[in-house]
Amino acid sequence: MIVVTGAGGQTGLAVVRALRARGEQVRAVVNRRGPRPELTDLGAEVVVGELTQPMPWSGLLSGADALYLIWPNFDPDEAEGAPAIFAEARRAGVGRVVYHSVLRPQARVMPHHAAKDLAQEALDTSGVPWRVLQPCAYAQNFDAQFAEAVRTGVLRSYWGLTQAQSLVDLADVAEAAAVLLTEDGLDGGTFEAAGPEPLTAPRIAELMGERLGREVVADDVIPAGEQPTAYAARCRRTMFDHYRYHGFVGSPRVLTALLGRPPRTFAEHLTTLDVPGEQG
Ligand SMILES: NC(=O)c1ccc[n+]([C@@H]2O[C@H](COP(=O)([O-])OP(=O)(O)OC[C@H]3O[C@@H](n4cnc5c(N)ncnc54)[C@H](OP(=O)(O)O)[C@@H]3O)[C@@H](O)[C@H]2O)c1
Repeated sequence: MIVVTGAGGQTGLAVVRALRARGEQVRAVVNRRGPRPELTDLGAEVVVGELTQPMPWSGLLSGADALYLIWPNFDPDEAEGAPAIFAEARRAGVGRVVYHSVLRPQARVMPHHAAKDLAQEALDTSGVPWRVLQPCAYAQNFDAQFAEAVRTGVLRSYWGLTQAQSLVDLADVAEAAAVLLTEDGLDGGTFEAAGPEPLTAPRIAELMGERLGREVVADDVIPAGEQPTAYAARCRRTMFDHYRYHGFVGSPRVLTALLGRPPRTFAEHLTTLDVPGEQG
């Protein structure tokens, strides 16, 4: 049985789906109480847990062969909270911990990357067998902007027009996570999950245009005002500033090896999105 945290979020749901497709038993840890049909319909056991407040995890982790730790996005408690969960996993005798990190956690100018870098350091000395997955930015991050581009013909870019991202499809990330959670011979490995091609905002707009059969143009939205102080807003601002000047590009080679095939392209992802007026 495999425990997945953050299971109700976009990443967790994709990982639970990939594990259930392999026939694995899954205990899905969610935060919000109440019915979770998106998880129970997949056949997962749903339990409520709290990552950012101290609570005993022995019950949640009992009988687990593996734990997939997904921390909520842009949460200030990750650097301290993730090591605490690793310690709980060791005490509970969990056989394997896989940590959902990010590509280039050592880019500490972004607080959420710095937190993951510290968590990875703690994982290494936690005493549990471990693996780390480091995804690039998801292709799915652009789904809302695609819907906007359908209406306006404009892709608003908060990270400039010249640097690129190696967008990775979340389904590929989830499949790689399932490999790390279930296959032998990968302990102590840190695995990057980057998409197959570096994409600038104008190229993303062009691909959206090809999908829609009409022009989409990228527009540079330059941030105004001071650096925000709230944690999540600061993460977002430093992230887009970093992408603007340095991009966020990785090699697809490691993900190709984990999947046994090349990762999906952004154009392939776009074919999965609905376009108003198109026949289903
Ligand atoms: N987006 C990307 O491109 C990208 C790329 C690489 C890495 N990542 C990383 O992927 C991770 C997951 O991102 P995401 O967007 O899937 O996550 P998310 O939607 O922000 O959060 C996932 C889930 O965390 C749960 N949660 C919130 N607060 C909690 C708490 N105090 N205790 C326990 N659970 C709590 C929520 O559960 P409920 O549904 O029950 O409320 C939520 O569904 C992040 O760490 C992010 O940095 C993202």
